[in-house]
Amino acid sequence: MTVPTRRNPLVHDRRLLVEPSILSADFARLGEECASVLAAGGDALHVDVMDGHFVPNLSMGPVVCAAVHRAFPEAFLDVHLMVTDPMRWVEPFARAGAGHLQFHVEAVRDAAPLASAIRAAGMSVGIVINPATPPESCFDALPHVDTVMLMSVHPGHAGQSFIGGVLAKGPALRARMSPSQRLMIDGGVSPANAAECRAAGCDVLISASAIFGAPDRAAAIAALRG
Ligand code: DX5
Ligand code: ZN
Repeated sequence: MTVPTRRNPLVHDRRLLVEPSILSADFARLGEECASVLAAGGDALHVDVMDGHFVPNLSMGPVVCAAVHRAFPEAFLDVHLMVTDPMRWVEPFARAGAGHLQFHVEAVRDAAPLASAIRAAGMSVGIVINPATPPESCFDALPHVDTVMLMSVHPGHAGQSFIGGVLAKGPALRARMSPSQRLMIDGGVSPANAAECRAAGCDVLISASAIFGAPDRAAAIAALRG
């Protein structure tokens, strides 16, 4: 198994991070698209994995992740699993070069064994909560993870409208998280709402359409940073 040796910005940096989600890339030109958002200042690439069960869509899997890793070995890959059986995908994504692996709290009964398996495979660990899921649902998981991610859309597609009400979960989670743990937000994040996200305690902003759809991707990433 290939254990990534790249620096993990989620764990080792303290600054605000912006991760372009390649779900909005032109998949016919995926290499150029990844190069573009990395050159524009993206801190990592966010890889959205959908299984057609946990969410009503299919996206990409370990084969695409491995191809991106081969082409951009220095890029840190944050893999967001929107799948019903995350344990099954730990080893395949570790081999595919993932550096961080996130799973949904709604998909697991006990996050601890999954988090241990992810760490044992050489990756950092994140838990994700859907817009309708209360923050309390991941309190038990907090000691086992490096990041918590608020979904600010219903997962499954890029380009949806931001659900601002989820930001109320930020302070409740931040109060129980250690300063070294990251609070991420994913879905509809744009320069128009990035300041609100940061004010709610989010220090990793994920964005697909607001970066890939921007006429100037570097300017979009800079605007997200604020
Ligand atoms: C949604 C994905 C998001 C998505 C974000 O299921 O988890 O990462 O790509 O896309 P935008 O930023 O367009 O909402
Ligand atoms: Zn995502």
